[in-house]
Amino acid sequence: PVKLIIDTDPGVDDAFAIALAALSEDVDLLGVTTVFGNVPLAATTRNARRVLALCKRDDVPVAAGAARPLVHPQAHEAKDVHGADGLSGRSAALPEPGRQLESSDAVTLLGSLLEAADEPVTIAPIGPLTNIAALLAARPGIAEKIERIVIMGGALRHGNTTAAAEFNIWSDPEAAQRVLAGGEAPCVLVPMDLTYRCAVDGAWLAALAASGPVGAALDALTPDYRAHYRHALGWDGMAVHDAVAVAEAIRPGILRLEQVPVQVETSLGPGRGATHADLRLPAARADTDGGTPGPLVGVATDTDLDGLRTFLLD
Ligand code: BDR
Ligand code: CA
Repeated sequence: PVKLIIDTDPGVDDAFAIALAALSEDVDLLGVTTVFGNVPLAATTRNARRVLALCKRDDVPVAAGAARPLVHPQAHEAKDVHGADGLSGRSAALPEPGRQLESSDAVTLLGSLLEAADEPVTIAPIGPLTNIAALLAARPGIAEKIERIVIMGGALRHGNTTAAAEFNIWSDPEAAQRVLAGGEAPCVLVPMDLTYRCAVDGAWLAALAASGPVGAALDALTPDYRAHYRHALGWDGMAVHDAVAVAEAIRPGILRLEQVPVQVETSLGPGRGATHADLRLPAARADTDGGTPGPLVGVATDTDLDGLRTFLLD
């Protein structure tokens, strides 16, 4: 099984992603760390712990991390998308966790889980990258213990929070640039361009709800989130962004990856949080970058859409 740590800000699609990893036999889920993002840190931490309790995974340690970005304050959260509590106002319906929150913080838990692991560990950050940037800065050499960092984030064509930027990257662009362009650990970026194409429809959600008590409880977290998609995009369905990234983390190769340099815009102008993935052919890049393109990131550009949806449901 893939050894995995999820760093998360639940969030309805985060809840789906956590459940995917928590219930998969292919995964050794070592821990979950939390970060501010869709809602404040106290709420994301409560939500993550309750989703694990729903999946009867109180064996998984949870530690809380950053409450704010590295440099500039977050301009707004995503309560308009995920509901006031981050789970369509339904977090109270989930079971109480049977395990204490770790007394140490996220960076400490990440560091000790990585150090104790007997093989390299995959990290799946599905919120702002603040904890991961802090880990790489605080623990030089720790990247040797990291198999891959599989990130949900970024936008190749247009953003969802601004014209240029996707929410996770926009929430802490300095942290994202530190992780993606730092080159310490191999990174995969699963941008919203692909996660929107992987959206699930009402029939998929009905099948999830009918699959058993966990599926029914997950479906019950979706009303506000689905209302957002109905209003903003006219869809009967929703994007499961974070679950697409976790699918790649636990089933490497399920997404098609293109190895290209990625730079994150950290200026304070309208481009803040943009991910510039250089998808030109290598020869075209070499003409202008002097042959030193910087670290390559595996950018997810395609998948078998129905195969992916079936994998998530199974
Ligand atoms: C990302 O932003 C959050 O609202 C979702 O949970 C996902 O991680 C999509 O842009
Ligand atoms: Ca998220």
